[in-house]
Amino acid sequence: MSTQTTEPLLDQQTIDTVKATVPALEQHGEDITKRFYHLLFKNNPDLKNIFNQTNQRKGQQPKALANTVYAAAQHIDNLEAILPTVKQIAHKHRSLNIKPEHYPIVGENLLTAIKDVLGDAATDDIIEAWGKAYGVIADVFIQVEDDMYKETEQKPGGWVGYRDFKVVKKEVESDVITSFYLKPVDDGKLPTYQPGQYITVKIEDESAPYNFLRQYSLSCKPNQEYFRISVKREDGIGDYPNGDVSTYLHDNVDVGDIIPVSAPAGDFVLEKEEKPLVLLSGGVGLTPLVSMLETVVEEQPNRPVYFIHAAQSSAVHGLKQNVQDIADAHSQVHNYVVYEKPTEDDTYDKQGYVDLEWLQSVLPTNDAAFYFCGPEPFMKAINRALKDWNVSEEDIHFEFFGPARNLE
Ligand SMILES: Cc1cc2nc3c(=O)[nH]c(=O)nc-3n(C[C@H](O)[C@H](O)[C@H](O)COP(=O)(O)OP(=O)(O)OC[C@H]3O[C@@H](n4cnc5c(N)ncnc54)[C@H](O)[C@@H]3O)c2cc1C
Ligand code: HEM
Repeated sequence: MSTQTTEPLLDQQTIDTVKATVPALEQHGEDITKRFYHLLFKNNPDLKNIFNQTNQRKGQQPKALANTVYAAAQHIDNLEAILPTVKQIAHKHRSLNIKPEHYPIVGENLLTAIKDVLGDAATDDIIEAWGKAYGVIADVFIQVEDDMYKETEQKPGGWVGYRDFKVVKKEVESDVITSFYLKPVDDGKLPTYQPGQYITVKIEDESAPYNFLRQYSLSCKPNQEYFRISVKREDGIGDYPNGDVSTYLHDNVDVGDIIPVSAPAGDFVLEKEEKPLVLLSGGVGLTPLVSMLETVVEEQPNRPVYFIHAAQSSAVHGLKQNVQDIADAHSQVHNYVVYEKPTEDDTYDKQGYVDLEWLQSVLPTNDAAFYFCGPEPFMKAINRALKDWNVSEEDIHFEFFGPARNLE
């Protein structure tokens, strides 16, 4: 990003007004957020094609957007400080094809929501200051995303927006996980990607009023032939409906069908360093880690790798043979399986959960690079264990299969 955007672009009075009112906005955060999305979708129903409506119902994403605007506003005179966060979000935006023209729409509805919720307390000066501040924050996102769009398009085999892919193979990996192998319909080149990255899949279900967009990690090493995604079927629990996209893929998408896909994105990627690599996964969270495993054995044949997977039992353990074959062929790989409720015939290394004591018994050192992904309770437990073991912050990498949340 050029330094141009991070120079103070606002007058001191605007900066002071914005910073002084951040706490009030945060205090009414939930009301403003609810009002904002209500207005956004009422005024722009087409945006329901882009935003994940299940995340809206669960309230996860709404909080994320508004909270980031407030956090940015707090650093409005030093936006460099939030660049790492901006980049992580920008990957998601780029994979969803968010464009500069979307930003004023979000800004307008956010300002109206602030006015509606704060009432008389939102004076014209305050609204004007927030309007300017939003403009500066939006410009930072737009520039970072513009760089990403250019990079994606210029890559050999790269593209912007959605490209049609044909399902060339559908493979059942466990009772709940199925892999889909995808090749471009245009027979063109595939771009390389970094192990750990994801694609966005667009489902156009004629029986639904809007499209569905969902991210899926690429579950194999980068190659010139195909993309592979491995999808867990999310059946509804209790009164909740079945997951829209995962069940559609399992039930309705077969070999020969075509799915629009966006180019690989994401900053949860394998860094090429010498220290031992620990890949820890829970459930379907193993997908980006299998891509990393397949890559590291080729590119760093001397690097020790510990692949630790937790699942309920072998019945739902996806890509099990894939990982076992790699471990069998490469002595650098140490493969561990932890089952919560193993069946009688299951073989495994530990019953129950992954905990610090057990990690310390199988890993030679805490001076390793740790990558983890799985359900939220798993992620929280692993994060806590690594912190308790004094693993350094820069060695801890994780991915959420949903909007980013706090792990503490
Ligand atoms: C970067 C990234 C990578 C990912 N990689 C993978 C991957 O490799 N493999 C994979 O399988 N998934 C992956 N995911 C998750 C994936 O994107 C989808 O979120 C997942 O498939 C569920 O989508 P769905 O449309 O089937 O379910 P949704 O319709 O989004 O529903 C999700 C769950 O919410 C429940 N639900 C519905 N309504 C409510 C409600 N009102 N309140 C509470 N709960 C409700 C549903 O029953 C369901 O269990 C990834 C996500 C991200 C962000
Ligand atoms: C400065 C303005 C914006 C900020 C601060 C912001 C912030 C965020 C954040 C924090 C997330 C969650 C990232 C994650 O998954 O971890 C997100 C996701 C997303 N954003 Fe933005 N965003 C902004 C503008 C926009 C605009 C203009 C659009 C398009 C209209 C947009 C569309 C989305 C969508 C569709 C998602 C994925 C959410 C989902 O489907 O659940 N955002 N954004």
